[in-house]
Amino acid sequence: FADGPLRGLHAVLTAGPTREPIDPVRYISNRSSGKMGYALAASLQALGARVTLISGPTNLPTPAGVARVDVETAADLLEHSLQLAADAQIFIGAAAVADYRVDAPADEKIKKNDAAMSLALSRNPDVIAAVRERYPDLFVVGFAAETEKLAEHARGKLERKKLDMIAANWVGRGRAFDRDDNALSVFWAGGERELPQASKAAIARDLGALIAERYGARA
Ligand code: PMT
Repeated sequence: FADGPLRGLHAVLTAGPTREPIDPVRYISNRSSGKMGYALAASLQALGARVTLISGPTNLPTPAGVARVDVETAADLLEHSLQLAADAQIFIGAAAVADYRVDAPADEKIKKNDAAMSLALSRNPDVIAAVRERYPDLFVVGFAAETEKLAEHARGKLERKKLDMIAANWVGRGRAFDRDDNALSVFWAGGERELPQASKAAIARDLGALIAERYGARA
């Protein structure tokens, strides 16, 4: 492991989208590419942590020195997150988890006809809230993807999900998702920090350093 402030710690991160099947060939998903989470995995690794990345489907190479577990659905992501967080000190949810899944995915490809069609959806579990609940001592960092009232919504998620820190980004109108750059407003109980527009690699370096700083302040 690299020498750095996170040496000796295990960090588990989620990244990328989830896919919720409709039938064997179709699914519901979102625009996450995984770039932000993968960049953060590399940054935590460079700060000395042992890093496990739980990844939804992406086209990205695994960062050097990082262990990767591939998942598809929110249910898979939940199962692996609860399992891998057991021996971690830091958990970060950068994945864009689908909030709903199809109630009854079809076993065979759905045939089209002329009638309108609707899908019954059920709420997916909240992965990061479940991890926090199971492991009260873990340092848990969430992301918040917002199209309005960024600070208010992010602080709401910080409190509701009982997170230690949340990194909020503006999304929609071509922002954050599947880009090589991003900007973050990071909030925690006693403060906040702006990470202005930069490459995701640079943003991830600053966010990694901030996580190390806040983890150190708490421990
Ligand atoms: O992957 P990229 O293309 O690089 O884009 C990066 C990103 C925009 C996806 C990333 O920076 C980001 O914001 N990820 C979180 C997206 C998201 O789902 O935000 P949210 O505000 O809906 O969720 C808040 C937090 O709860 C997140 O930590 C999320 O992982 C978690 N969550 C949400 C729903 C759910 N069912 N389970 C969860 O754990």
